[in-house]
Amino acid sequence: PYPAYAEFRRTTPVAQVDPGGLWAVSRYEDVLHIFKNPKLYSSEGLRLAADPPWFGRSNPISDSLIFMDDPKVHGRMRGLVNRAFGPSALSRLEPSIRATAEQLTTRVLDRRDVDFVADFALPLPASVIGALLGLDPALHSRFKQWADDIMAISATQPGDTAMLEQCRRTVAEMEQYLGQVLEHRRQTPGDDMVSDLLRSRVDGEALTAKELLGFLFLLLIAGLETTVHLLGHSARILAEHPAVLRQLRGDRSLIPRFIEEVLRFEPPVHGTIRLCTQDVTLAGVSLPRGSPLLVLQGSALRDEHYCADADRFSLERKGPQNLAFGHGMHFCLGAALARVEARVALEALLARCGTVSLRPEPVEWNFAMTVRGMRNLPLEVLP
Ligand code: HEM
Repeated sequence: PYPAYAEFRRTTPVAQVDPGGLWAVSRYEDVLHIFKNPKLYSSEGLRLAADPPWFGRSNPISDSLIFMDDPKVHGRMRGLVNRAFGPSALSRLEPSIRATAEQLTTRVLDRRDVDFVADFALPLPASVIGALLGLDPALHSRFKQWADDIMAISATQPGDTAMLEQCRRTVAEMEQYLGQVLEHRRQTPGDDMVSDLLRSRVDGEALTAKELLGFLFLLLIAGLETTVHLLGHSARILAEHPAVLRQLRGDRSLIPRFIEEVLRFEPPVHGTIRLCTQDVTLAGVSLPRGSPLLVLQGSALRDEHYCADADRFSLERKGPQNLAFGHGMHFCLGAALARVEARVALEALLARCGTVSLRPEPVEWNFAMTVRGMRNLPLEVLP
């Protein structure tokens, strides 16, 4: 349970949580209202945070679709990238996801005592993103650091010389590798996502070089850690609920339902940030123009008005829409891919693992306002 969220929902559904002015929004209906009204609650205003003046060079991610408000501009960009994430692209990827999940299952069973994050939950999505981006597998182990550095830029201050330098190096390195991939695919197009993006046209228009690079940066940030946490939470919940593990082993068709409930119960993204574009009143609270909001999906999904007995993990739910992937124009582009990754991972694990239990070593959680998950997960896994 998340008692602080429950208290917020009950007493102050729009609460000022830091003196700098950040407001936490915790009820389901208000979270949904914000996602449905990008005109009032902006993502574009956050572009500056992703690329502060003291960074001293441009961060390609600030040109990506996650920071676009104008439905026309955003819609054009989504139109150009959507197909690369559609059903045929996913069926093209599924066999290689399965092969990797099976290899990792063998590794987990061989080791028996594992850190599930390092041994399974991280390498699977890293290999998927690597394949999507067309990067050399030797680079996969660098992705986590790359993603951490890009995320860290928005938290820097002008005096953080060493950190800023590290982030600049990472941006330069990513630009170099991704630039090479783009050039290679321009010369030799293939049956892969980058080639699809290069071919993509809406009303005869292609993506610009800047948009392409920004989009590839975004995929690495948006698609890696989130999926790592979905897999980590799934494994932990199985270890904590042996009856659910037995139920899923007996009937694999329950796996998609299990994944939806994991996404509701422990969403990898607990909060997203928006800025008010004008003075607004939300749940009776006046918010001046420019106010930053922490939109707490993690709380909304535990809201009793949205789902009864919300603090209980249950496979019986047929609840309304899941906000774990957001809602509206910025609804996660990779939602179907993340669901395929989780389903294939669980199919591979459940086919061969009979017992999954938590080992006594401590679990370390990450420290972030928006993405929540474990840095390690010590498990014992037996056939
Ligand atoms: C957007 C969650 C996996 C790519 C989002 C948003 C959420 C989210 C909440 C909306 C952000 C906002 O409204 O500001 C998740 C979760 C994942 C996941 C929980 C895994 C369980 C992925 C994957 C990819 C991806 C695998 C791609 C490889 C994107 C992109 C956007 C996005 C490109 C921006 C869409 C837009 O602005 O139009 N994701 N995501 N995500 N996600 Fe995911």
